[in-house]
Amino acid sequence: MKNSYALITGASSGIGEEIAKNLAKKGYNLILTARREDLLDKLAQDLRKKYNIDVSVIAKDLSKYETPKEILSFCEKNNYRVDLLVNNAGYGIKTSFHETSLEDEEDFIRVLGTSVIMLTKLFLPKMISNGEGKIMIVSSTAAFAPPSAIQPLYGPIKTFVNRFSDSININYKNKGITSTAVCPGFTVTGFHTASGVQEQMDRVPDFLVFSAKRIADEAVQATLAGKSLCVPTKTYKFLVFMLKILPHTILSFLGKILAPGRYD
Ligand SMILES: NC(=O)c1ccc[n+]([C@@H]2O[C@H](COP(=O)([O-])OP(=O)(O)OC[C@H]3O[C@@H](n4cnc5c(N)ncnc54)[C@H](OP(=O)(O)O)[C@@H]3O)[C@@H](O)[C@H]2O)c1
Repeated sequence: MKNSYALITGASSGIGEEIAKNLAKKGYNLILTARREDLLDKLAQDLRKKYNIDVSVIAKDLSKYETPKEILSFCEKNNYRVDLLVNNAGYGIKTSFHETSLEDEEDFIRVLGTSVIMLTKLFLPKMISNGEGKIMIVSSTAAFAPPSAIQPLYGPIKTFVNRFSDSININYKNKGITSTAVCPGFTVTGFHTASGVQEQMDRVPDFLVFSAKRIADEAVQATLAGKSLCVPTKTYKFLVFMLKILPHTILSFLGKILAPGRYD
């Protein structure tokens, strides 16, 4: 459809950028958003040239209350019909919980949690009236793990968005809308440097680390198939299974070996 678009948050790097490339290859028109406009513009230019699709850019900060509404207005003004919403933007806070300002915690909750709900809420009515729509929420395997010593709010927010994704499925599947919670494990992106935990990431064994392209490819496939949960790679499928059945004391012990620094 000519005016059908996929909207991707956090498209300027990492998993979001790879999701954009994957969807572009499939012929989707795209709306890319993040704060770093130069990176978005460069990606948009490359994808337009390579795949002959329409790519629009809106540089916005999702920690601002008004951003989701501004993104909706932008789409409405340009008559973009958003059939696929990818809630992917995210980061981790560098400082310890007791040292972080209330404002920084609120921004964090807004980018990883509230903005996901707002964007979904704002784009949902049109999807319902169209009788179809797909939502992807890039969560994390941290949603299933015991909360870690670094970034103590990160896991709980990812658990929250997984449950939110389940709610969307329960309430709107019969209206043609599906939501897919994508839960990657350690992935090579800008995330760990941006979150001040590159040192801990470098200590994670290679067999637990995957490329952003691999994660994006599995995430898109699951979302287009309307799956409710996607844990990319067999390694993390197995780990998530173990996380669900093993007692927390054993998980904390294993966590110290497999992800040093997180559960010390
Ligand atoms: N990397 C991993 O190991 C891993 C594992 C599990 C889950 N995840 C999840 O995967 C998602 C994508 O992260 P990534 O690993 O691809 O990291 P990344 O390369 O750092 O990408 C994060 C994206 O989020 C955007 N973003 C951050 N803060 C924002 C803000 N305030 N407003 C708007 N956009 C913002 C960034 O763009 P700008 O800086 O340009 O704004 C960037 O495009 C996140 O939700 C993360 O929690 C990552």
